[in-house]
Amino acid sequence: MKEITKTFPGVKALDRVSLDLKAGEVHALLGENGAGKSTLIKVLGGIYHADSGEIEIDGKPVKIGSVPDAEANGIAIIHQELVLVPYMTVAENIFLGREIGKGITAKLKDQEREAQKVLDQLGMNINAGTLVKDLSIAQQQMVEITKAIAVHARILVMDEPTSSIQEREVENLFHIMRDLTAQGVGIIYISHKMSELTEICDRVTVMRDGQGVGTKVVAETTRDELIAMMVGRQMTNYYERDFLPQGEELLRVENLNSGKQVRNVSFQVHKGEIVGFSGLVGAGRSETMEAIFGLRHKSGNIYVNGKKVQIKSPTEALRHGIALVPENRKEEGLYLIQSVKYNTTIEVLDRFMSRLRVNRSKEDAITERYIEMMKTKTPSKEQTIGNLSGGNQQKVLIGRWLATDPKILILDEPTRGIDVGAKAEIYAIMNALVKEEGVSIVMISSELPEIINMSDRVYVMGEGEIKGELKHEELSQQAIMNLAAI
Ligand SMILES: Nc1ncnc2c1ncn2[C@@H]1O[C@H](COP(=O)(O)OP(=O)(O)OP(=O)(O)O)[C@@H](O)[C@H]1O
Ligand SMILES: [Mg+2]
Repeated sequence: MKEITKTFPGVKALDRVSLDLKAGEVHALLGENGAGKSTLIKVLGGIYHADSGEIEIDGKPVKIGSVPDAEANGIAIIHQELVLVPYMTVAENIFLGREIGKGITAKLKDQEREAQKVLDQLGMNINAGTLVKDLSIAQQQMVEITKAIAVHARILVMDEPTSSIQEREVENLFHIMRDLTAQGVGIIYISHKMSELTEICDRVTVMRDGQGVGTKVVAETTRDELIAMMVGRQMTNYYERDFLPQGEELLRVENLNSGKQVRNVSFQVHKGEIVGFSGLVGAGRSETMEAIFGLRHKSGNIYVNGKKVQIKSPTEALRHGIALVPENRKEEGLYLIQSVKYNTTIEVLDRFMSRLRVNRSKEDAITERYIEMMKTKTPSKEQTIGNLSGGNQQKVLIGRWLATDPKILILDEPTRGIDVGAKAEIYAIMNALVKEEGVSIVMISSELPEIINMSDRVYVMGEGEIKGELKHEELSQQAIMNLAAI
């Protein structure tokens, strides 16, 4: 790709960006939220038309004006946003647009058999006949990957493929990627997980503010150098946290039960604390928090400020000062065709209504406050949120729940899909909330360094139970893994 430029109203998303991909290499594309990574590959995939610039394959200029054009040129893309059809089977999704077999029933049977073969070859534990809507997010992502691989692309692009899949599946994916590169496929790999770079990538191109900053051989660069290229400055004090003396008890949960995923869970949160919840995926952490937030049937007792409370819905939870920022922010709560403003204020709109009329200036002020606080990159507060980059959409959602003025803020994987610079910003915001606003935070995180550096105390969960509690000074990867392993 040579000197690609792409402008949206009010945003120069790409400014003469160049990228070259060799056969058999994994080429990482790195950059902060909104740097232009997804836009660049959407140009390659025929979804966006560049204003100027050229694309060459095998040294010959090609015109990619549409998705079929891209496919005809051997380009397959796994997009950041899942684009599967929920009410179709896995097989139908995999073969969508290039159905095989003749006659309706024979076609379905053939497709299912063929799809199952590919799934099995790739070591994916998924039934080709299942409806996509019945799969977990992680499984849906695996289907996206299978779909892209099934077309035998020569150029495969993966836009944050590991953002919601589990460790074991990541290993499987890397295995598949190595097989593909051995066959000469070139892979462009977008991820915010720096540790994946050294494990799977050969070269890396860094983007910043719509421009290409440089390309490096991974083995010849360092994490610090790459981060400095991404953010345009040296990053110090990555985990910002001032530990405070433990205050009085704010939240107490006793013998919480909910289905099979939450069993006899008891814990407390004090004023001034960040309490971490660690454990393997499927340990029951999200389910526990959903139960507390009134999203699941449950039994057990919840006390806020020493008083027993009943929470049967999120509205009741909010009334008691508990807010939850969910893990799958895209699926649970983004109104993609609405503005940044709408998405920020939706939970608190009723607070500034008088005689059924919304106070517009308050609505604007709140939106501006959280755009500024989260350093959200958006041309304006009226921008449709679907047009923001993935990471910036997440910042808006965190802002939405902060706007409810919670006393207890539950964050489920708060930095997933967020770049290093924004991560540091979120840590600083968490620290300030606890220190200056008197908010207590419960943080579910699968990233051990994050849990270890940010938490006063950590509960480790496994199989729906709390397996143990560790104080800040006891925290280490080893100590957590010892408790988490079944
Ligand atoms: N369809 C669109 N309309 C308007 N602006 C857009 C559109 N698509 C992208 N943008 C803007 O272009 C810029 C680059 O966005 P892009 O999605 O490429 O970022 P990214 O590097 O993929 O970020 P992330 O890591 O958060 O996914 C952003 O400022 C974004 O708001
Ligand atoms: Mg993106």
